Parts: sequence; structure tokens; C-alpha cells
Amino acid sequence: MENITVIGAGTMGNGIAHVFAQNGFEVSLVDISQEALDNALNTIGKNLDRMIAKEKITEGEKKSTLDHITTFTTIDEGIAEADLIVEAATENVNLKMKIFQELDEKAPERAILATNTSSISITQIAAQTNRADKVIGMHFMNPVPIMKLVEVIRGYNTSDEVTNQIMGLSKSLGKVPVEVNDYPGFIANRILMPMINEAIYSLYEGVAGVEEIDTVMKLGMAHPMGPLQLADFIGLDVCLSILNVLHDGFKNPKYAPCPLLVNMVMAGKKGVKSGEGFYNYAESRKAEKVSHQFLK
Ligand SMILES: NC(=O)c1ccc[n+]([C@@H]2O[C@H](COP(=O)([O-])OP(=O)(O)OC[C@H]3O[C@@H](n4cnc5c(N)ncnc54)[C@H](O)[C@@H]3O)[C@@H](O)[C@H]2O)c1
Repeated sequence: MENITVIGAGTMGNGIAHVFAQNGFEVSLVDISQEALDNALNTIGKNLDRMIAKEKITEGEKKSTLDHITTFTTIDEGIAEADLIVEAATENVNLKMKIFQELDEKAPERAILATNTSSISITQIAAQTNRADKVIGMHFMNPVPIMKLVEVIRGYNTSDEVTNQIMGLSKSLGKVPVEVNDYPGFIANRILMPMINEAIYSLYEGVAGVEEIDTVMKLGMAHPMGPLQLADFIGLDVCLSILNVLHDGFKNPKYAPCPLLVNMVMAGKKGVKSGEGFYNYAESRKAEKVSHQFLK
């Protein structure tokens, strides 16, 4: 494989493009927004500068990484030569279905179509195409250049050959791939989200406060970040939508999102990206605990 196309240049897309380009692949980065593409190149440049400062790469390697990335605002231009397409567009079922129909129609027949979705069924996405054997989940973690894991998700019809190719490719990027089957939440979010939801329930029921809950999990379980702060970083709207996928998919009340989470999302408190979630990020870089008027 030489030519990789990344669809979506947001948080994940820029990281995925960065990692492939740094490992010598030719990367076409596609986004409908020119601003997102400009921001992505800027972010990749800054992340490479940080690596230079830590003496992990040289100026020459930075230049070569950036030279390996070309940006496009339409899918047609960006996929003509693709061996692999990694879709990292906004997490929305209808959008992803539409993108995969278009990719199947226009991408070279040999191309593998991967998605970085956190929770949408790979089998459902694959069913939009005439190459379900070549559709697979390639779930990178945020921030992509740093996090080692790639959760490789086999859809119902994904072939052994394609799974092996993606496992090998992930290793060649210096990542550790783990193969899992396609059920709601896969493994990462099936285990993480109920923990986050339980932390929110504990707050909602007044068992302990924000900092107390996070401290117990940090110091008691050696988690680098408490579940409430992690939820803020992921985005509370994203947590809610993944819990809804688990709840709908398994029809099991244990996945029902906590009413406090639902209220916070409705109130626009989405975590770091909105400036406030369980902590306040607006005024200082250090997260301040938010007092819970929602509970009164
Ligand atoms: N953010 C995370 O921590 C994280 C972690 C793992 C997986 N994911 C998954 O990665 C995917 C992307 O998430 P993100 O956080 O980078 O989102 P984001 O909102 O930061 O970026 C999404 C980008 O997709 C672009 N886009 C929308 N429609 C498009 C189209 N038709 N063609 C091309 N580009 C289009 C948007 O302009 C935007 O720049 C989602 O499926 C998400 O579930 C996110």
C-alpha cells in the first residue's frame, strides 16, 4: 500500500494523516471545509515542532512528512489513486452511509474502505457498498500520534485477507492493533462508556463530588485521568451518543444514559470543547470543578 486517503480533517483525521505521512505513505486529506484542512495542516505542523523540540524527529523529517500530505475539498479528487481510504468524518450514521456509497462508486476496485467510527456498526456501513469484504473498522485513539492502540473491527462480511492487511499495516505505523468483532461499542467504548456513565450516576445520586470521584479512580485504580474529566475531554455529547448506541443495540437498561448527562448536553455543557462540562475550562487552563446546579 502506498496511497492513503483520509476523509475528514478534524481532530482524528489530522492525526491519522500525520501518522501515515510520517511513515512514508502518500496521503490525500479530504474535507468539505477548506478551513478544517488549513487547521489540520497547522496542527500537524505544530505537533511535528513539538517532536523536534523533544529531539524525536529532525527538521528534515518534518518537511518530508508535510510534503507527503496533499489536501482536497472533494472526494473525487482525493481518492483516484487510493489503496486504502480511512473515513474520519463527523460521527453521524446518515453522513457515513452517504460517504461510503460515494466511496464505493468512485474509489478504485482494489481499495479497502476503513472507518474510524467510535460506535456505528461496521456491518451497517459495509451494507451500503458492493465490497463488504473490503470494509473494516480502524479505530484510532485520540491523540493519534501518541496513542498506541488501533482497535481493528471486523464487520460481518470483512474478509480474513483484509483484516490481516489492516493488522499488518497498523503495526507498520508503530501501533498495536487489536482485532475485535462488530457489536455495539466494539470493546473500547463498550467498557469505557458504562464506567463513565456509572461515575455520572454516582455524582447524580450524591454519592460523592466531581473531584472525589475522579480522585478515587486516579489514585485507587491508577487511571491517568478520572472518568468525569475523561468524559469532558471526549465530549459529553459524544459520550451520550455512544451510550445511546449501546442502549439501542443491546436493548439493555444497564446502558441507559444518566439523566444528568442528558441534561448537561441539552444545556450545552459538552466538556472541553464548549468550555464547560464537569469542570470549567473557560477561564484557566487548569480545570476547575463546576458546582452542580443541575442537581438542585
Ligand atoms: N474525537 C475523538 O476522541 C475520537 C476518537 C476515536 C474515534 N473518533 C471518531 O472519529 C471520527 C471523526 O471524529 P472527530 O472527533 O475527528 O470529528 P471532528 O468534528 O473533529 O471532525 C470531523 C470532520 O469531518 C468533516 N466532514 C464532515 N462531512 C464531511 C464529508 N462529507 N466529507 C469530508 N469531510 C467531512 C468536517 O468538516 C470535520 O472537519 C468520528 O467517527 C468519531 O466517532 C473520534
